[in-house]
Amino acid sequence: MLQDQYGRVATDLRVSLTDRCSLRCTYCMPPEGLPWLPSADILTDAEIIRLVGIATSLLGVTEVRYTGGEPLLRPGLVEIVRNTPAHTSLTTNALGLTRLAAPLAEAGLNRVNISLDTLDRDTFIALAHRDRLADTLDGIAAAAAAGLTPVKINTVLLREHNAHEAPSLLAFAIEHGYELRFIEQMPLDAQHGWHRENMVTGEEILASLATRFTLTPDLGTVRGSNPAETWLVDGGPAKVGVIASVTRPFCGDCDRTRLTADGQVRNCLFARGETDLRGPLREGASDEDIAELWRKAMWGKLPGHGIDDPTFLQPDRPMSAIGG
Ligand code: GTP
Ligand code: 5AD
Ligand code: SF4
Repeated sequence: MLQDQYGRVATDLRVSLTDRCSLRCTYCMPPEGLPWLPSADILTDAEIIRLVGIATSLLGVTEVRYTGGEPLLRPGLVEIVRNTPAHTSLTTNALGLTRLAAPLAEAGLNRVNISLDTLDRDTFIALAHRDRLADTLDGIAAAAAAGLTPVKINTVLLREHNAHEAPSLLAFAIEHGYELRFIEQMPLDAQHGWHRENMVTGEEILASLATRFTLTPDLGTVRGSNPAETWLVDGGPAKVGVIASVTRPFCGDCDRTRLTADGQVRNCLFARGETDLRGPLREGASDEDIAELWRKAMWGKLPGHGIDDPTFLQPDRPMSAIGG
């Protein structure tokens, strides 16, 4: 079991498969990209499958989510999914899903969360620095058609780009049967350009949605460790979620552990340190040796992200290299 000193147990493993991405969302990466991880440092497919197997067989992990960067860029993704003995999901930008949704579903992928920040082509180009809105929408439709449901849509709102689009994005999601969640921007961008006063807060998002919809608390859903708080839209059954990581942190209920593409365990998105599993793995450590390193890594998890502390420092790695 992966327990920390505050009594939280991590059963949800998030694995970053690559730090590369096919988009350049301004809240994540600069247009020119980043210095990518050296390929010799990236875990092989077999190493990932072994570590995921240790997590599920020895450490009590029951859910695995593959992230990036963009996980669809990883050539071995379908085989990695096929060899994942747990409920398996993917967080993706959908580019490539028209080709990969069906093989992934066949390999055992359960569902996908997809980033979509705008329905306007020019805004997409300004936000993501690529002209790929149509491909993204096709990818989302392919995921739904392949049965990777419920399809959840993640939207980060930025005041200068897409904040005014919240109601139209919700109308789009309801029309297609997708579960939309709006996300408060977190200080995880490579450029260190996050300022709390620029962040669109959960409260502002709800106020914007209330101009077009009636929202009531979704009392029928147990939140548990789900980062999203949900509301019924116009009496239901349609819902909308808000992930207010900054203004309403959910760290007390956190059930996550993370593995980076280069084989480091992070006990928190905002952890200041990491535990290397790649070195021991390549030097012949046993499954139990690896499991013990992982347990120790999680024991030291801090109670919260500390974004409000005056001494807060962003993690050394950006979101794209941690896995969201
Ligand atoms: P579901 O199981 O489908 O609810 O997945 P999820 O919402 O946990 O995962 P997803 O990858 O879609 O992430 C949605 C948003 O939550 C992203 O902005 C993530 O960066 C953020 N997020 C994911 N895990 C954590 C976490 O442990 N802490 C915080 N603060 N934010 C997180
Ligand atoms: N703050 C909040 N969410 C972010 N994401 C990427 N960067 C940030 C950030 N700085 C979101 C993406 C994706 C998910 C993995 O995290 O939009 O949906
Ligand atoms: Fe968990 Fe850290 Fe995320 Fe808080 S910030 S929810 S402790 S991973």
